[in-house]
Amino acid sequence: MKSSNLPIGIFDSGVGGLTVFKAIRKLLPQENLVYFGDLARVPYGMKSPRLIQTYSLQIAKYLIEKSKVKALVVACNTASSTSLEILKENFNLPILGVILPGVEEALRLTRNGRIGVIGTRTTIKTGAYQKALLERRKGIEVFAYPTPLLVPLVEEGWFENRIARLVVREYLAPFIQAGVDTLILGCTHYPLLKKIMGKEGKGIMLVDSSQAVAQKLKEILEEKDLKGGEGKEEFYLTDTPQNFSFLFRVLLGREPENVKLVKLEELL
Ligand code: DGL
Repeated sequence: MKSSNLPIGIFDSGVGGLTVFKAIRKLLPQENLVYFGDLARVPYGMKSPRLIQTYSLQIAKYLIEKSKVKALVVACNTASSTSLEILKENFNLPILGVILPGVEEALRLTRNGRIGVIGTRTTIKTGAYQKALLERRKGIEVFAYPTPLLVPLVEEGWFENRIARLVVREYLAPFIQAGVDTLILGCTHYPLLKKIMGKEGKGIMLVDSSQAVAQKLKEILEEKDLKGGEGKEEFYLTDTPQNFSFLFRVLLGREPENVKLVKLEELL
């Protein structure tokens, strides 16, 4: 197979990375995509960086050896913030995380230099977003807080009801108080709450990393002359809870095809 026709690997701890899958599919309709959801070991958001690094290395190896992916997108923010460096040290192909594209977009948007970040506990604790923002622009102020309840809300399909509204309001209050004008949605699930955050956020601009990463991927493929494919899709899941199909339908408006179960032993 021509190397440009090989698939792009996208991996996530579970279903949330489908927001990134959707953005990539929209921008690059021709590409062959392989999505890996580690549903057996989700959530990553409370786990230690060491454990997430082990999982990420296993999944990357699997996708590179089995599917011969030409590029790898780490769709999960928690995996990006803990494992991007170690993945780049171990594998020789374009590897893209979600942190930098989100950071660059936030720096482009902000007018007052006060930027907020929300994500899982581990993502915020690593300081990956905070460091990347401050390294790129001195003098800005960064406010970063974990918002763990947003993940189960999304997985329950509660995107707009009054419980979701209350939780979002509570979580956004410190950012509004701090006068941030730009908020990075540093978790795969949060783009599904964009509507309600837009209403509760009192004009704060929201950065959806999924769109930013799709754009970055397109640039890299063009630069390296790697564009190509027939729009094929495959899904590897380490377990099959119903919420994968549910979220797929919500986001893509169709059923996923070519869904395969991967036993955890195959990753070791
Ligand atoms: N995919 C994770 C992230 O973007 C959220 C879900 C989890 O905790 O595994 O950080």
